[in-house]
Amino acid sequence: MSSRGASIFEIETTRLLLRQWRDDDLDPYSRMCANPEVMRYLPGTMTREQSEEQIAKFVRHWKEYGFGLWAAEIRETEAFIGFIGLQYSEDWPEGEHKTEVGWRLDRSCWGRGLATEGALASLRHGFVELGLERIISITLPENIASRRVMEKSGLALRGETRWRGFDVVWYDAGRQEWEMYRS
Ligand SMILES: CC(C)(COP(=O)(O)OP(=O)(O)OC[C@H]1O[C@@H](n2cnc3c(N)ncnc32)[C@H](O)[C@@H]1OP(=O)(O)O)[C@@H](O)C(=O)NCCC(=O)NCCS
Repeated sequence: MSSRGASIFEIETTRLLLRQWRDDDLDPYSRMCANPEVMRYLPGTMTREQSEEQIAKFVRHWKEYGFGLWAAEIRETEAFIGFIGLQYSEDWPEGEHKTEVGWRLDRSCWGRGLATEGALASLRHGFVELGLERIISITLPENIASRRVMEKSGLALRGETRWRGFDVVWYDAGRQEWEMYRS
């Protein structure tokens, strides 16, 4: 896949700093990924080693594509709270647009609009700086919180499919319709 735009390694929103991954993110990231509540709609809780490998994968994605999932921290406290950002999945079966906006946050910070704040910044980055035509988002049908974040971020339900062994629902937004939604 190609993108026309410039890499943006850090973004500040009102309450969040979306930044590159650091070694000291592993402790809080592996703690949150060991929490069954956080991982309820994901394939399962993860060991520290699996979290470490996943962070390495996020970093490789950044190197390969020039964008990716940012480590998210609360600006005021500098606390690491999870990830928000964009991820390209070559194996996505529903068409040519394979860049997804996604999020996973620590349980302690749910319900304050932080995922939506980060999702909007990620979408703006994808459409405006990277020049993507369309951005998708994927979740299990029963993950209502994630679906709400998609809706509040201006994505619309497109359908259901089977992906990586799971029945999923997927949403998307095109650049022009999203810019109209945001204006
Ligand atoms: C999904 C997740 C990132 C949302 O983070 P968040 O910061 O709480 O999200 P927001 O506050 O921006 O929005 C959440 C919305 O879902 C709603 N919501 C949450 N749980 C809900 C439920 N069980 N039923 C109905 N609505 C629910 C909230 O009320 C809110 O909507 P509102 O603003 O209209 O009231 C967070 O729950 C999470 O990390 N979950 C675990 C990881 C995960 O599932 N990631 C996505 C995988 S696809």
